Amino acid sequence: LVASLEQVDETYIMVKPDGVQRGLVGEIISRFEKKGFKLTGLKLFQCPQDLAEEHYKDLKGKSFFPKLIEYIVSGPVVCMAWEGVGVVAAARKLIGATNPLQAEPGTIRGDLAVQTGRNVVHGSDSPENGKREIALWFKEGELCQWTPAQAPWLR
Ligand code: TYD
Repeated sequence: LVASLEQVDETYIMVKPDGVQRGLVGEIISRFEKKGFKLTGLKLFQCPQDLAEEHYKDLKGKSFFPKLIEYIVSGPVVCMAWEGVGVVAAARKLIGATNPLQAEPGTIRGDLAVQTGRNVVHGSDSPENGKREIALWFKEGELCQWTPAQAPWLR
């Protein structure tokens, strides 16, 4: 009842190329599904250079930026849009700290990754960026609004 009065947000989650190559796609999707969020977009996608640069435009001046872009375009990624109350912050918690060695056990990065530059998954850092990134990575017809038929506790 309380949750239904709160704001429903959306977040952009992406399995990075190392996650795809290592066969972690199912494992990563599963963590968001089990938590109880709603999947509204999903695709395997080879990211072009300009999209990777636009996605990470706030990091353009950083020394690691060229390597980061090279990594993101190095192979297919899995793009996802997830919806739910508090989904942006909750997804960041499920993902864990940027440096996987500092990420808590139980988080995706804490359990599955070692290097900051190979940290297997992306999650939007604010509701505004969630909207921005979903619009950047998905065309309108690729997203699907749906109501879980017999599971009102997921909403
Ligand atoms: P950032 O947005 O700071 O982290 P997060 O992905 O946790 O929101 O950085 C984006 C990505 O850039 C990060 O996932 C991995 C890469 N990165 C590096 O390669 N080296 C670094 O020192 C940092 C801070 C990030």
